[in-house]
Amino acid sequence: MTAGWNRPSEAAVPTAMSYLKTTRDFYKDAALSPDEGLCCTTSPSWSFPGLKVPSIMNRMNYGCGTTVHPADLAGNPTVLYVGVGGGLELLQFTYFSRKPGGVIGVDPVPEMLEACRRNFAEAAGMNDWLQEDFVSLRSGDALNLEIEDSSVDVAAQNCLFNIFKEDDLKKALAETCRVLKPGGRFVLSDPVTPVPLPDRLTGDDRLRAMCLSGSLTYQRYVELMGEAGFGTIQIRARRPYRMLDRKRYGLEEPVLLESLEVAAIKTKSCCGLEVFTGRTAIYHGEEEYFDDGAGLSLTRDMPVMISDRRAEQLRTAGHPDLTITEPTWHFAGGSGGGSGCC
Ligand SMILES: C[S@@+](CC[C@H](N)C(=O)[O-])C[C@H]1O[C@@H](n2cnc3c(N)ncnc32)[C@H](O)[C@@H]1O
Repeated sequence: MTAGWNRPSEAAVPTAMSYLKTTRDFYKDAALSPDEGLCCTTSPSWSFPGLKVPSIMNRMNYGCGTTVHPADLAGNPTVLYVGVGGGLELLQFTYFSRKPGGVIGVDPVPEMLEACRRNFAEAAGMNDWLQEDFVSLRSGDALNLEIEDSSVDVAAQNCLFNIFKEDDLKKALAETCRVLKPGGRFVLSDPVTPVPLPDRLTGDDRLRAMCLSGSLTYQRYVELMGEAGFGTIQIRARRPYRMLDRKRYGLEEPVLLESLEVAAIKTKSCCGLEVFTGRTAIYHGEEEYFDDGAGLSLTRDMPVMISDRRAEQLRTAGHPDLTITEPTWHFAGGSGGGSGCC
């Protein structure tokens, strides 16, 4: 084992009661006995040239999508990863951010941190470029991050925040926004539900911990991100995640949970929350260009990404030579703060 990877956590996080305690106990077990079926993702597992991943990290992939996008990771950013799991995504982030202290991973479950350290030690034996001081694994809690204000470029969490009840989710989102630099991005993957789930399910602490019953609707989740201080939201993927069937979950109708991948950017927008879902505006009239007089300029026949707010505005205006396309749920913008216009 590589020296140092396995040092003990510095500070113990106080044990909370109720569902947060159930969650920690649940992930203690998942650290001690890896459970391949725990979360599942239909998104492809990334492979990057020159990155070798220990198989235990794949077996401990407890995420429900991916949060690692090369477009976010140019220029050796400082990355904070909340809820480390077996370390798969931490390792992928470290691949892009190769500098001392470049990636910070926090988790309140000592056994999970321990497993992550062990897995990183194995990864270090397989990847010459991986230096121990690139990653700092710390005891910590999403609800109270011991990280300086405005100090990280990218914050990430995968399949954790859906477990939090709404008041705690608000805290976790506010904490994440606080530690990001202006213009920084919060990349996340979480399940959402098409309809509010019944109290019987949302109140089941174990189902919550399993990422099956804590989900909010897409609309509510996006709204809370906006309230926390994120001005631009990019929806990167929306895919089937899990089916909750009528019989086993006591539902009137089956519920298909979806896994959402988002980049929430700490921007102040001129016109409120801007959500990009892959909608475009296309002008196909007589002129070469179209200008709506409010900052949107379109070249004839060329689709331009627009926010949902702008799409609604243009639809209401009802211009005959404009087509507004439906959401693809796949925002295809680059590393800029939202593309299109506000
Ligand atoms: C569903 S797993 C996801 C792990 C990892 N993100 C992945 O994709 O494999 C949730 C992770 O969050 C950690 N966790 C639980 N409660 C937490 C909290 N309050 N703050 C931060 N992490 C927490 C668990 O120990 C576990 O590592």
